[in-house]
Amino acid sequence: MLLEKERTVMDLMEAIGRRRSIRHFSPEPLNNYDLYEMVQAARLAPQAANVQPVRYCIVHQPQLLEPMFECTKWAGYLENYAPAEGCRPKGYIVVLIEEKLKSRWTDVDAGACVENMLLTAASKGLGACWLGAIDRDKIRHLLGISDEYSIHSLVAVGHPGEDPVWEEKDSDSIKYYLDDAGRLHVPKRRMGEILVPITPNLDQK
Ligand SMILES: Cc1cc2nc3c(=O)[nH]c(=O)nc-3n(C[C@H](O)[C@H](O)[C@H](O)COP(=O)(O)O)c2cc1C
Repeated sequence: MLLEKERTVMDLMEAIGRRRSIRHFSPEPLNNYDLYEMVQAARLAPQAANVQPVRYCIVHQPQLLEPMFECTKWAGYLENYAPAEGCRPKGYIVVLIEEKLKSRWTDVDAGACVENMLLTAASKGLGACWLGAIDRDKIRHLLGISDEYSIHSLVAVGHPGEDPVWEEKDSDSIKYYLDDAGRLHVPKRRMGEILVPITPNLDQK
């Protein structure tokens, strides 16, 4: 039993470590059920007061992929890193917020849901990229999304066509960059930088 538990934790840590934003995809089509399972994982995420204001559209129809792509922007720190034709996502999950359920926690709720989707994709060997730099008006029109919902973000999905790697941040820069071989590197802040020491006061003042 303990062994089984340990194995599950290892699998999760592996998916967390392997998950990178994937922006270049292979031509292989998606199994639509994988998109469905990503949403299945999203709906189990922790939610403030369990309100669950997040909604989803699954977009996989071939005729919608190119118009969807035109609503996106990629890798702001790099020049010309948007995926070329043939390397573009094979599906999108549109993350919506039901307006009447909006609260000050809605963004946080959406974040928890999206991370579950990204980890599910990583655990399946799929590539995904969370996209916030999107043309919401165009997407609303293209997909006929009603005013009851705001468009929060997109998750672009496909089979990975690149193999980015994270590394310990060495310089002052948090900007991802390409090495000489064209591989994407993503600096992550070191443990020593993110762990803040506490100075406990137990005198109840
Ligand atoms: C809220 C949010 C919005 C993002 N929007 C975009 C985007 O519009 N385009 C893009 O290429 N990447 C986008 N990203 C991906 C980030 O650039 C990426 O997560 C970051 O560089 C760290 O890389 P990693 O995901 O591989 O760890 C977004 C990430 C988040 C969390």
